[in-house]
Amino acid sequence: MLDIKITRTAHPKARPQDETKLGFGSIFTDHMFLMDYDAGQGWHDPRIVPYAPLTLDPSALVFHYAQECFEGMKAYRCDDGHVQLFRPEKNAERMQSTHDRLCIPRIPVEDFVQAVKALVKVDEAWVPGAPDTSLYIRPFTIATEAVLGVKASSKYLFAIICSPSGAYYEEGMAPVKIYVEDEYVRATPGGTGYIKCGGNYAASIIAGEKAHKMGYSQVLWLDGVERKYVEEVGSMNIFFKIGGEIYTAATVGTVLPGITRMSCIELLKEWGYTVHEGRLAIADVMAAARDGRLEEVFGTGTAAVISPVGSLMFEGDTEQVADGKTGPVTQKLYDTLTGIQWGRLPDERGWTVRVE
Ligand code: COI
Repeated sequence: MLDIKITRTAHPKARPQDETKLGFGSIFTDHMFLMDYDAGQGWHDPRIVPYAPLTLDPSALVFHYAQECFEGMKAYRCDDGHVQLFRPEKNAERMQSTHDRLCIPRIPVEDFVQAVKALVKVDEAWVPGAPDTSLYIRPFTIATEAVLGVKASSKYLFAIICSPSGAYYEEGMAPVKIYVEDEYVRATPGGTGYIKCGGNYAASIIAGEKAHKMGYSQVLWLDGVERKYVEEVGSMNIFFKIGGEIYTAATVGTVLPGITRMSCIELLKEWGYTVHEGRLAIADVMAAARDGRLEEVFGTGTAAVISPVGSLMFEGDTEQVADGKTGPVTQKLYDTLTGIQWGRLPDERGWTVRVE
């Protein structure tokens, strides 16, 4: 159990007036959580302080060798006003696996969840209540030791910031156009594709820029070895419904183990669908689209929620999916998941955690 010291701001900021125009991740709340790590001392000084810039030595390892990582989660305001989190222990566990890969000391799951709950409680008034809005929570860890040798840092900062947010995509729940990337790769076996480190995203920006210039909102990554099999999309996992069955890439080292992904698989199995977690060739997806067997494609992610895919472009061939509309399984997943997250449906699986 952390002994969190709370220093409240003397200058609260004005909260957004119009919650229908929040956008994603550009407004920040009044406070942040910080905790330091020093070799020999462990994680120490957990505290909630006014949101402010960080001061770091220019030689801090994070700036040079990118020893850093992050998580993404949300707090939801329910109709009766209470605020809840969705499977926060899963984010804590995933951050542990990320820390392990980056040689960063772990944070205990219960400490991570306690820190998130404490910060959301302090900034509870910032959790928006308009439909489809939430408080996006961004925990992150950076290496802070001031030294230029390539090595694991002996000092870290773990921080949590929060941002009242609306839809991640400008399109909202409207189907997105996806560009299948055939030049750059995101991840290779043995690399960092399965963890949430900034480097994965930095390396992906060039493909995103290319896709945007061509009018696509996201990039679909193929496997880095054969460049044949579908893996994930820029900020979400991806699912395909072909001939009545569901397919998604396995999380075997190169694909992020999404918490929304995991929850959708659990729901789909409960509803009786066969879910294949494995290799699916892009050529088979495009062929299924051409002969009418590709019924639905959707992405899943904390920020993106459930995002229908309206078309796929691969090597010059563009195929529409579900007539460019949101398919029934995509819609049912969206309604069920968001129903549980915002407390409109009973939480029969124990997925929500009340902030009190
Ligand atoms: C999330 O869905 O929370 C993510 O971390 C994706 C992010 C890159 C926007």
